[in-house]
Amino acid sequence: MDWGLKNRLSRIIKPEDERAVMLAVDHGYFLGPTEKLEVPRRTIKPLLPYADALMLTRGILRTSVDASFPIPVVLRVSGGSSIIGKDLSNEKITTSIKEAIKLNVSAVAMSIFVGSAHEHQSLVSLAKLVDEGEDHGIPVLAVTAVGKELEKRDARYLSLSCRIAAEFGAHIVKTYYCEDFESVVNSCPIPVIIAGGPKLSEKDAIDLTYNAIKSGAAGVDMGRNIWQSDHPVPMIKAVRAIVHENATAPEAYDLFKKLSAKTQTTTV
Ligand code: 5RP
Repeated sequence: MDWGLKNRLSRIIKPEDERAVMLAVDHGYFLGPTEKLEVPRRTIKPLLPYADALMLTRGILRTSVDASFPIPVVLRVSGGSSIIGKDLSNEKITTSIKEAIKLNVSAVAMSIFVGSAHEHQSLVSLAKLVDEGEDHGIPVLAVTAVGKELEKRDARYLSLSCRIAAEFGAHIVKTYYCEDFESVVNSCPIPVIIAGGPKLSEKDAIDLTYNAIKSGAAGVDMGRNIWQSDHPVPMIKAVRAIVHENATAPEAYDLFKKLSAKTQTTTV
């Protein structure tokens, strides 16, 4: 692997433990002003110190994150459909590698839609993005499926998507946790990280994180289950404890409860 690409990857997946806590705040690119992400700066700022990397679009990076804050950026570069449009899978590359370099990003990210009407388009876009990324030492994170594709959240479908992403040269793949997640990880030769998906109870989101890490995930790229919590900072700290400190699910949930009780007392 080229030195620059390796260096950028190591900013995201920490070499000490080969794990990562990424904070995903790119939802607005197809969902608009998502609940609790209406004012991105307000949501992002308190969480920045606890994230290893931040995943977002160029618009939110430029308007809502201070350029002086030293956080590795994973730039979403695909889009083109909205939640009220005809087909969420109809995405193309929306941001150039030149722009990604200008923004000093550590990786670029795009979605692939295996099994959808636009499967071919998204996979060819991935191949092109990997070529361009490799030319400039920029890793590519492939995101497997959103929207309707979530209905197919089983190990067979997610193994297929993740493996195809790896075959096309992606450097990291982000997917969803499912039963038999080991088989997804074991058949994918690149690091697999999980999205949190729609908001769950904090306990369930912590269990999900623990189960994914136990099954071999390299970390999380989590959004709503962190910033839609009433206690986002305690939540990201609990997730960190699992990912980087090998906390068990009950230990992480106890930490969450302790920290959120403290937040409540200090804000009363
Ligand atoms: C959408 C994305 C989001 O970043 C991803 O879904 C992670 O967020 P959440 O944990 O809220 O699911 O890539 O395509």
